[in-house]
Amino acid sequence: MSSKILVVGEVNGQFPTVFSKVSTLHAKNSFALAIIVGDLFADPHTSTSTDDQNITSLISGKIDLPLPVYFMLGRHRLPEQIVQRLESDAGEICSNLYFLAGVSKDKYQPAYSEDDAKTLRGASSADILVTSQWPANIRTGSKVDFNPDGGQEPDHQQCVADLCASLKPRYHFSTSNNIFFEREPFFHAPTEAAPDGCPITRFISLASYNSPKKQKWIYAFSIDPTAAPAVIIPPGTTASPLSLSNKKRPTATSQEFSRFSTDGAYTHRGNKRRRAAPPTPAECFFCLSSPNLATHLITSIGTDAYLTTAKGPLSTSDTYPSLSFPSHILIIPLTHSPTLASIADAEARKNTYDEMQRYRQALHDMLTKFASCKLGAVTWEVSRAGGVHTHWQFLPVPVDLVRRGLVEAAFKVEAENEKYPTFETKDVGDGTEESSDFFRALIWAPASTASGGEADGNDDSTAAKNTSLVLPLDASFRFDLQFGRRVLAKLLGLGGRMHWQDCGQSEEDETADADAFKKAFKEFDFSLED
Ligand SMILES: *[C@@H]1O[C@H](CO)[C@@H](O)[C@H](O)[C@H]1NC(C)=O
Ligand SMILES: *[C@@H]1O[C@H](CO)[C@@H](O)[C@H](O)[C@H]1NC(C)=O
Ligand SMILES: [Zn+2]
Repeated sequence: MSSKILVVGEVNGQFPTVFSKVSTLHAKNSFALAIIVGDLFADPHTSTSTDDQNITSLISGKIDLPLPVYFMLGRHRLPEQIVQRLESDAGEICSNLYFLAGVSKDKYQPAYSEDDAKTLRGASSADILVTSQWPANIRTGSKVDFNPDGGQEPDHQQCVADLCASLKPRYHFSTSNNIFFEREPFFHAPTEAAPDGCPITRFISLASYNSPKKQKWIYAFSIDPTAAPAVIIPPGTTASPLSLSNKKRPTATSQEFSRFSTDGAYTHRGNKRRRAAPPTPAECFFCLSSPNLATHLITSIGTDAYLTTAKGPLSTSDTYPSLSFPSHILIIPLTHSPTLASIADAEARKNTYDEMQRYRQALHDMLTKFASCKLGAVTWEVSRAGGVHTHWQFLPVPVDLVRRGLVEAAFKVEAENEKYPTFETKDVGDGTEESSDFFRALIWAPASTASGGEADGNDDSTAAKNTSLVLPLDASFRFDLQFGRRVLAKLLGLGGRMHWQDCGQSEEDETADADAFKKAFKEFDFSLED
């Protein structure tokens, strides 16, 4: 689930106007919350009595805030009225306005303490980082002009760079007086503790509200805290400009950090399980070039995909009398890629998906011939950006189970039992349009009319059936990778064969089954045509 967030630059005491603008935007956009970067209040050294009056109205609830708004220390001390309010009211200034304190001893003083940085760096990651000063060297490797009219860059701090480099936030917001600056996104190299994926940071520095040239002071974005880090680096992304210092960090700069976390809701990437690096093509079980590949299971090799019989198949050669072999088949892309959508080359991606569908169709044609329309089939896939080498599993099922809706129901009920999200009926093609990982089940039954094969488009129960069920997967629940096999094992009364590891065969038997399949599939195998 993604949340819309609004980020506001320095307000410097003009909150009556700014909050009213925020409320108007919120009415149209329903933000989850707003964050203020830099000073919310005017500098107590130069503030006037109208500032004090406005603070009084704020505290007494006369300024309406329709959404939670968070602010932190900027460069100035907080006004005395606000400090008193915070002392008595644990962080809430008025309804919906919250102060996010650092961990310094005097938490209302804008002084960076070594403890703050240490505590924050102890956290393993964050989605949003807010600092009122810039990280050192942030413009290195960037082609974006900071200020075409000349003018000074804000202070850069090595300790802020260290913090950003270790937290690897998705967004790092800062302030730059009268100027707005957004750097090209940059990626952090994978580390031993987080080997999967390259986290990407967007550094955005907002102008103050009401700057002389009316530069951008407000920024809205959506974030899905549960999404995995990108596997594909978006175009325009640069390497990280940040280098971790080995030097002792400065101790007396004016600095405040906030790693944004409200009830942990936006900091999900914390306790990720340690995982070994994903297998390379040489180690992969599905790459044709790999020495680990079980070559005796291969039954057909096309241009962009190939077929193998399944190791430890769910069905046996006795499951379906019309078929003399197990018929649990894998359709595998030749490209080593965790999902179809992550095949970078658009043409290769299309050709791969099309050929996998063509293999599926050929398998259906084979069933139609041998089982005289008594068998339908399910083809399922777990598409995860963090996967290794995607593939489809194909298994025949009695046509009656498909026609009576029992196959669909079996998937839906099991998902409900597992408290997974709800299945949707939709065709996601090669998955490029999907924003999350997903599980899909393609359910097919042949037309049972004498003409056979083709769907005729009306609601006749003897028409062919071709349904695609899709279950979105995200990191908020643990998805069982054996889900598809488990559902079908229960449905087909093959509970004893739930786990492939329990269904091992001798290599001789595996070879004999693969040969029997090849013989049956021969006349449908387009890879044999020349
Ligand atoms: C205080 O609020 C009033 C409106 O309520 C506004 O006109 C005035 O400019 C504010 N003062 C400052 C310093 O923003
Ligand atoms: C069945 O659906 C898939 C997509 O879900 C599609 O590619 C294929 O062409 C369809 N087959 C028929 C015979 O309609
Ligand atoms: Zn592979």
